[in-house]
Amino acid sequence: MAKRKIKKWQTMIILGSQWGDEGKGKIADYYGNLTDYVVRFQGGNNAGHTLVVEGEVYKLHLIPSGVLHEDKVICLGNGMVIDPEILLTEIDNLEAKGMKLNMLISERAHIIFPFHILMDGMIDEYKGELGAGTTRRGIGPCYADKAERSGIRMIDLMDKNIFKEKFDKLFELKKLTLEKLYKADIDLNKKQILKNYLEFGERLKPYVGDVSLAINDAMDKGKKIMFEGAQGTMLDNDFGAYPHTTSSNTTAGGACVGAGVSPTKIDRILGVVKAYTSRVGDSPLPTEIFGKKAQYLQDRGQEFGTTTARPRRIGWLDFVQLRYAQRINGFTGLAVTKIDILGGIKNIPICTHYKYGNKKMTELPSSLEELRKCKPVYTNMPGWKNLTEDDFKAIIKKGYAALPPNMKKYLKRIEDEMGVPIDMVSVGPDRKMTIEI
Ligand code: GDP
Ligand code: IMO
Ligand code: MG
Repeated sequence: MAKRKIKKWQTMIILGSQWGDEGKGKIADYYGNLTDYVVRFQGGNNAGHTLVVEGEVYKLHLIPSGVLHEDKVICLGNGMVIDPEILLTEIDNLEAKGMKLNMLISERAHIIFPFHILMDGMIDEYKGELGAGTTRRGIGPCYADKAERSGIRMIDLMDKNIFKEKFDKLFELKKLTLEKLYKADIDLNKKQILKNYLEFGERLKPYVGDVSLAINDAMDKGKKIMFEGAQGTMLDNDFGAYPHTTSSNTTAGGACVGAGVSPTKIDRILGVVKAYTSRVGDSPLPTEIFGKKAQYLQDRGQEFGTTTARPRRIGWLDFVQLRYAQRINGFTGLAVTKIDILGGIKNIPICTHYKYGNKKMTELPSSLEELRKCKPVYTNMPGWKNLTEDDFKAIIKKGYAALPPNMKKYLKRIEDEMGVPIDMVSVGPDRKMTIEI
């Protein structure tokens, strides 16, 4: 049986438990009014979070989803990689809608440059079968520079002389690499990039500061902090389906490292579970399905990438993968999303384990070769009829108990397999289409 829920919390991490696009943005927005700070701690504008509030659609890539609630401090943590041009466009768009941003950007966050974006595409294409089909946003090459200690951080952009010195070294290194190693005919105007970035720096200056200090001070004063994950567990660079991963730690520990908080300070870790599986990009996906059923879920779930508009691959729920996500993240509760999309399917398969040759696999393999060959073994759960938005609105008024019995069976199976209680069920994209338990 799943353990009791933690209702009282000061700090909460919201994480994707699958392959990204689980609906983290919606859930973070839902909880946004209950917190004082909302903090992104990894990734960059590879993330795409869609929020719907009273019919209006917001698409966010860098700014945390809490932004739609007034009086929240929104933070971009040190673990992030930031394309300043994209960030400024996002700020402009939100301000044009009349929002006032109370934002803090970590001085330790790393900066994405045009050469990172160029290299991202080239490396991914070179890798062929081993590529992840990246979002081409420069994420991997920027994190590579960080690890190599050639990267440039927000704080550097605040000091013209330091920035020029570091930019000169990095630009020349990348130019050499692109021309000599990649044999690329590149068109990068060093002077122009320098000028542009210095201007970006000037505009971002009022927001840049010490995020770790700010949130730790806020915690001491009793403020509530929500950490908003991007990507998902299977895209974590250590625990995901390497090398088909992103370049950051998307799992629970990543929040501490990427924001500068101690693990002892975390009260609640909410795992967002999409009621089926989706994947944008390349990797083995054991429960992937094709044909009519995949099309049914893709159409109903509008499964197209928020960042790249690529169609998302579709699969059934995978308990091998979800139990693994639970082990790595230690969720204290789950938010199950998009359960509405499964309506109208007679029997819904869920993968309980894999077969690798004749071997029964209950744990996710680290070997890519094994993962490629794992075949899902399914159990069938009875489905429920398709419900309209109005049906769900009537159910929301009555609460969880009013959900169709077979839907509750499906949810209970998730709780039992993962050993974690479900804290909320999402039955539509709008903020209001949510049932807290
Ligand atoms: P994220 O990256 O994890 O924030 O997820 P995305 O925003 O990329 O993708 C989730 C998509 O599903 C978005 O278009 C959401 O508006 C939508 N969505 C979220 N929760 C639900 C839900 O419960 N039901 C339905 N039908 N759509 C949802
Ligand atoms: P959100 O936050 C789904 C995938 C890419 C690719 C791999 C590496 O919206 O859940 P990258 O550009 O990060 O180097 O690409 O990861 N990917 C995502 N898939 N949702 C995301 O973010 C993703 N961010 C990256 O498709 O396979
Ligand atoms: Mg997304």
